[in-house]
Amino acid sequence: MKIAITGARGLFGYGLTEVFSARHSVTDLGHQDADITRPEELRAVFTKIGPDVVIHPAAIPDLDICEADPDRAFLVNVTGTRNVADAARDVGAAVAYISTDAVFDGKKRTPYTESDPTLPVTVYGRTKLLAEGIVREAAEYWVFRVSVLFGPGKANFVEKGLNKIAAGEEWIVAADQLGSATYTLDAAEKIREVVEARRHGLYHLANQGACTRLELARRAAELARLDAGRVVGKPSREMGRRAVRLEYAVMEMRALQQAGFAPPRPWQDALEEYIRTLQLPARKD
Ligand SMILES: NC(=O)c1ccc[n+]([C@@H]2O[C@H](COP(=O)([O-])OP(=O)(O)OC[C@H]3O[C@@H](n4cnc5c(N)ncnc54)[C@H](OP(=O)(O)O)[C@@H]3O)[C@@H](O)[C@H]2O)c1
Repeated sequence: MKIAITGARGLFGYGLTEVFSARHSVTDLGHQDADITRPEELRAVFTKIGPDVVIHPAAIPDLDICEADPDRAFLVNVTGTRNVADAARDVGAAVAYISTDAVFDGKKRTPYTESDPTLPVTVYGRTKLLAEGIVREAAEYWVFRVSVLFGPGKANFVEKGLNKIAAGEEWIVAADQLGSATYTLDAAEKIREVVEARRHGLYHLANQGACTRLELARRAAELARLDAGRVVGKPSREMGRRAVRLEYAVMEMRALQQAGFAPPRPWQDALEEYIRTLQLPARKD
């Protein structure tokens, strides 16, 4: 298949490009190659590539940036997705959209399924939900809701925190956000399977098992043989964040299982593999 990937220099874009390139003809579109807020430019790029599928992770994923600048968040996350969906339709391509657990309100205490009602409580979550709606207007689409991402290609929550500890600093993380965690390479593999099988629809997609940010950070420090005592848990409200964080965002992968796909391995195993690949600076003990 011919695959075009938006936001391909981003964290998930990198993982998707790695995985899809092994079996398909991939055009990895960075921000410079295709600005999703410029519909004519985007249409010209898609026309040249002639993709069968456009995978669309490009977005402003930072909750606090979105909260501070809702117009920009709307322009990139919503209008940008409208442009991607329209240009894809015009060249006969289906869209696989990367969404988020932030479409929920975080009030539930059992895992969210794909049929649970959405009620985003942040600008980011609202823009992502609107974008899901746009993608779902097409007859053939995929929406993959992922959660906290870690993986190669771009510094992320885990790598940045480990670098702090290696530099002798504290890594302060939220102790009260329970959710799922997603290794980009595992999620990209699963997306590849689902896309190759042409099983369209809405899917929750993360590594198995729930964890708080604190548990994820401590385990990462242990696996990296760094001082896990430097990981300090705090209540989210004390972290001075502009956007509300969800207390509970665990996702159940019901649609994936119902469609006959095995969910990705437990987050602990994925984290172990990821940490093995990381080049961390020497410890300052
Ligand atoms: N990170 C997470 O923990 C997380 C959790 C749940 C869901 N998600 C979703 O997963 C997707 C990927 O997230 P990520 O962490 O990989 O984000 P990322 O690393 O910030 O990658 C997003 C990419 O989109 C590009 N982009 C931004 N504005 C653009 C525009 N106008 N035109 C074209 N490209 C543009 C960015 O390029 P520049 O940097 O050059 O602007 C960046 O390379 C997003 O849709 C996000 O909502 C992420």
